[in-house]
Amino acid sequence: MAAGARAGGGTDRGCFIAFEGPEGAGKSLQIERLSRRLSECGVPYVTTREPGGTAAAEAIREVILERPELRLDGIAELLLFSASRRMHVEEIIRPALERGDVVLCDRFELSTRVYQGCARGVPAETIRRVTSAATGGLLPDLYVVLDVPVSVGLSRQLERLSDPEQLGLFGLPDRIELEKRRFMERVRTGYLELAARDERIETVDGVGTPDEVERRVGSLVARRFPSRFG
Ligand code: TYD
Repeated sequence: MAAGARAGGGTDRGCFIAFEGPEGAGKSLQIERLSRRLSECGVPYVTTREPGGTAAAEAIREVILERPELRLDGIAELLLFSASRRMHVEEIIRPALERGDVVLCDRFELSTRVYQGCARGVPAETIRRVTSAATGGLLPDLYVVLDVPVSVGLSRQLERLSDPEQLGLFGLPDRIELEKRRFMERVRTGYLELAARDERIETVDGVGTPDEVERRVGSLVARRFPSRFG
């Protein structure tokens, strides 16, 4: 059986937790805090992110995220994210799980189901097939979805930007602003709908101070994986 093909988080192999949510949900901060806690307890872990994690995946990341002049439809994005995921799984995630490490990953295939599927309209079955070829069936033991209202995610993103025009919200026609908001609404609804029918996906309220959200995440992982986080 492929590592990660079963739920649980038993102690004979590592435990794979992916963090998800819209931009501005606070994933990277919570991953940093959880990894600090693992270091303090002497639990071996790896933190990684998608798209990225390997040299090939970082190069693909550049094509997808840093070349806005390239036109990519939903299927092209699916294929590129999946190529990046393939190398990430083979070179980083599977070896870490085989060593028995905890893997904390910033985004995984749930992002594809939500962004390319729910938000961009690529059929779920197409995504399922391509993803399964890319990952060999490897799935996280748990997805932690940090849920924030679109307005909160957008204002957190703005706080981080020295030049808010980069976000495409100021100084641009209302239509573009509205499209960005609509897209983010589809992303949020997509996460909530998928979480409602998949027991590997847990939603955590991402509104509040970093400490408050950390406590919520901490009690969730302690409940799901008592041997590592209890
Ligand atoms: P990134 O700069 O990593 O920021 P963050 O994860 O903090 O939002 O952006 C990753 C972007 O790529 C984000 O908009 C979600 C998108 N994405 C997909 O559309 N599909 C995918 O499969 C993945 C992994 C990411």
